[in-house]
Amino acid sequence: MATKHEWWQRGVIYQIYPRSFQDSNADGVGDLRGVQDRLDYVQWLGVDAIWLSPIYPSPMADFGYDISNYTDIDPVFGSLADFDRLLAESHRRGLKVILDFVPNHTSDQHPWFQESRASCNSPKRDWYIWRDPAPDGGPPNNWLSNFGGGAWEWDQHTQQYYYHAFLKEQPDLNWRNPEVQEAMLNVLRFWLDRGVDGFRVDVIWHIVKDEEFRDNPLNPEFRPTDPPHHQVLATYSTDRPEVHDIIEKMRNVFDAYGERMMVGEIYLPVERLVTYYGAHGSGVHLPFNFQLISIPWNARAIERVIENYEAALPPFGWPNWVLGNHDQPRIASRIGLAQARIAAMMLLTLRGTPTLYMGDEIGMHNVPIPPHRVQDPCEINTPGLGLGRDPQRTPMQWDDRPNAGFTTGAPWLPLSEDYENVSVQMQRDDEHSMLTLYRRLLELRRSQPALNVGSYGHVPTEGDLLAYLRRDGDQQFLIVLNLGGRECVFGGDAPIVHGRIKLSTHLDRRGEVVTDAVRLRSDEGVIIDRST
Ligand code: NOJ
Repeated sequence: MATKHEWWQRGVIYQIYPRSFQDSNADGVGDLRGVQDRLDYVQWLGVDAIWLSPIYPSPMADFGYDISNYTDIDPVFGSLADFDRLLAESHRRGLKVILDFVPNHTSDQHPWFQESRASCNSPKRDWYIWRDPAPDGGPPNNWLSNFGGGAWEWDQHTQQYYYHAFLKEQPDLNWRNPEVQEAMLNVLRFWLDRGVDGFRVDVIWHIVKDEEFRDNPLNPEFRPTDPPHHQVLATYSTDRPEVHDIIEKMRNVFDAYGERMMVGEIYLPVERLVTYYGAHGSGVHLPFNFQLISIPWNARAIERVIENYEAALPPFGWPNWVLGNHDQPRIASRIGLAQARIAAMMLLTLRGTPTLYMGDEIGMHNVPIPPHRVQDPCEINTPGLGLGRDPQRTPMQWDDRPNAGFTTGAPWLPLSEDYENVSVQMQRDDEHSMLTLYRRLLELRRSQPALNVGSYGHVPTEGDLLAYLRRDGDQQFLIVLNLGGRECVFGGDAPIVHGRIKLSTHLDRRGEVVTDAVRLRSDEGVIIDRST
C-alpha cells in the first residue's frame, strides 16, 4: 500500500565476517579490498545491505570484538581510505553498509583502559568497572564470564578487580559514567559522518550492570553440558532497566542523521526482547530475533514462535528474523541441507527484515577444526563443550581454485573439504542449487510488496506443515512449508488454496495452478500467488 517503509524494513541484510570473505593480499585473512572485489557478487545475489563484523584496530583476542581504537581500521583489513572506497562502491551499487559497534567492552590494550588501570586516581579510573575485593579477598560477587571462569580479574598493581563479561582482555566499560557515554556516542558520530547507514550493536543488553553489584541467582536448571556461565542467571549483570535510557541516547544520535538504523544483538526471551524497541519507539530499530536459532526445528514449535512474536511486538515494532551468524552453528548443519532450503524460504517470506549469514546461501556447513588449528578463545577456554565458533567462521567457498579462491596464502582457518563441490562457481548456473533458490527468493521478495512489507496472517495447519499468508492490498501470497520427510497434502476443503505456484524450494513447479489442495513432497515449500 502507500505506507512508506524505510530501507531497513523493505531490505535484506547480508552479514559478512570480513576475516573469511575474501583476502586480497595473500596474508590468509580477508580484508576490505577483498570485500570490495566481491561486491558484484553481493549485488547479483540481490541483498540490500551488508553488515561487516568489526574491522577496527584490535589485538584480535576475540577477533575484532576487542577494540583498541574505535575510529580507525585494523591494518589486517586495510585503511580508512580502503573503507571509504568500499563505502562509496557499495553505495554506487545501491547497497547500504552496516558496521559493528562494540559498546560493552574495549580491548585491554585500548589507551582508555591503559590509563584506567594505571592508578586508582586516574581520570579514566571510573571509565571501567573497578571494585574492591570481597571481605575474604575474593572477587566482589559471583558473576561469570561468558567465555568461561569468573568475570573479575585481579589487578595486582592497584589492588582492585575489574569486570569483564567476556575475556579478561575485554574489560567492560562503565556506561553509568557520562564521559564514557559521550566518548562512545562520538564514535557513532564519527562513522555516521563518514556515511555509514547503520550499526549492529554488540551485546547491547549487557551494557548496564546492577548498581549494587548483587550476586546473580543460581540457575536451578543448570546441566554440566551447558555453557559454564549458565550456572548463574544473568539477572543483575544484564538487561537492567537503566539500559533503555542509554539506548535512547544512542537512538537520538541516529535520529539526528535520518535514514540510519541500529540493530541490537540481544539474546533474551521474547517478552524481554521486545522492550528493546523502547517505550515509544525510542530504542533500537531492530532487536535481533534469534528464535529460529534457539528452538527445535519443528512446525508446531515454529508456529508458536511466530504467533507469540507477532503478538508481542509493540505497534511501532518492526519484526526481523535470523537463521545464523558467526557465533552460531550453521543452519545446514543444524537441520540438514533439505530443511535448510525450507529455512531459506521461511526467512525470506516471514514478515520482517531477514539477516542472512554469508555462506548459508550456498549451504555451507560447520567445518571440523583440528585441535592444532583452533583459533576461537571460547573453544580454548571451554574445550569439549562444542561452544567453539571456528566451524562457522571458515572462509567463503568461491570456486575450485586452491583455498576456494579465498586466498592465495595460508588461510587463517581451514576450508571445508567439499569446497570444490559446494561453491558459488558450482552453484551459480545450476538451476536447482541452494544459491539459485536464494536468488529467486530474494528476487521475488524484492519485487512483491506483499512479501517485503505486507501483513502476516496465520493459517492453521497440522503435523509437519506450516502455512501463512502475506498480503498487501489485492496482492496475496500463501506460503506452505513441509518441515518433514514425508509427502503431505495441504488443503482438501480449504478454500484458501487457490492460485499459481510462484516458487517451490525444489525450483520446478513454477506456474502450476493449484485449487483446493496442494501436494508437497518431503522437505518441500511453495509460495502460491493467490492474487491471480
Ligand atoms: C557477540 C559477538 O557476536 C561475539 O562474536 C563476541 O565474541 C561477543 N559478542 C563479545 O563481543
